[in-house]
Amino acid sequence: MSLIATQLVHWHKQHGRHHLPWQRSRDPYAIWLSEIMLQQTQVNTVIPYYLRFMQAFPTISSLAQAPLDAVLTLWSGLGYYSRARNLHQAARILMQDYQGQFPDTLTSLQQLPGIGRSTAAAIAAFAFGKREAILDGNVKRIFTRCFGIAGYPGDSKIQALLWNKAEELLPVHYRDGQIEIYTQALMDLGATVCTRHTPLCQACPLQQHCVAHIENRVDQLPTKKLRKPLPQKETVFLLLVQHQKLLLEKRPASGVWGELWCLPEIETRTDAALYCQHHWGIKVQSPIELPTLDHQFTHFKLRIYPQLLQVISDTFVPQNKFIWIKPTDALEQAIPTPVRKLLKQNFLSDNRTLTT
Ligand code: ADE
Repeated sequence: MSLIATQLVHWHKQHGRHHLPWQRSRDPYAIWLSEIMLQQTQVNTVIPYYLRFMQAFPTISSLAQAPLDAVLTLWSGLGYYSRARNLHQAARILMQDYQGQFPDTLTSLQQLPGIGRSTAAAIAAFAFGKREAILDGNVKRIFTRCFGIAGYPGDSKIQALLWNKAEELLPVHYRDGQIEIYTQALMDLGATVCTRHTPLCQACPLQQHCVAHIENRVDQLPTKKLRKPLPQKETVFLLLVQHQKLLLEKRPASGVWGELWCLPEIETRTDAALYCQHHWGIKVQSPIELPTLDHQFTHFKLRIYPQLLQVISDTFVPQNKFIWIKPTDALEQAIPTPVRKLLKQNFLSDNRTLTT
């Protein structure tokens, strides 16, 4: 084994994480689910979502049979909802084309929606004990620092170099379980020691060969992407209230928050009362402007101007993509985080806004 691999495995015995819920299992389904949830979300946030999801859908087949809405509901609040849509689609593919069994090769795993090279390698290593290299954001950070690799790690040349390193460092003559420990050690080191901000170099098993540490460049690596400021968009969310219920609208499948339940949106220049009259034939009291909310997506920032409107005429009878729903019930649905925040702020606190 390379010295680095030996040191990592040794470090993991004492300092690694050994009791994460998905570690008790060799079930590729459980491991896959955890890896997908962990792609953009930290362990502590993931754990309760993971446990609820496994309880609701303990097998590939139960996930494949579930309606997408039920899957999105369990994902609600985790963000990056295409992960949930891909998961659901992949479960259906596994049932149709793979007799409900996970493939155990990197190539087949990568053909499933939502599984990239690193996730495929993590599943292959953790579920099947295969000697495959991972390279997620945490591992890129460790390698760029340890080997003093400057340049944005997303650039294809740097990425290729990092993949080579990842392959090169894999334990060669590994005993049972060693590839799993090595893989988990890399993940744990990245999450707990070689962190993005104020890394704990004194606790790092790789400290004596870490180029960034030796050359005092830890805070400069990995090289940051040259970023243009994100574009800012704005929108108005309507909180239409009647008989203690709110109007929600299901968003189209494509675009942000695809198929999630959302508050109806209008453009900032549009008059809300006129809009309600024209589109739904309902009269509303003058809108109350609620505090602005900011939400950040990967590619843009969204400024939300929420307006509260009491309906004072006949109820608009919604068809398919609209529902009237109690705010407490809405919180049980697949809704985006800013909608969740608005409902909690306005309908669950002591100073309730909801009156009619
Ligand atoms: N991040 C990605 N995969 C992980 C895992 N299996 N354990 C902890 N953190 C992770």
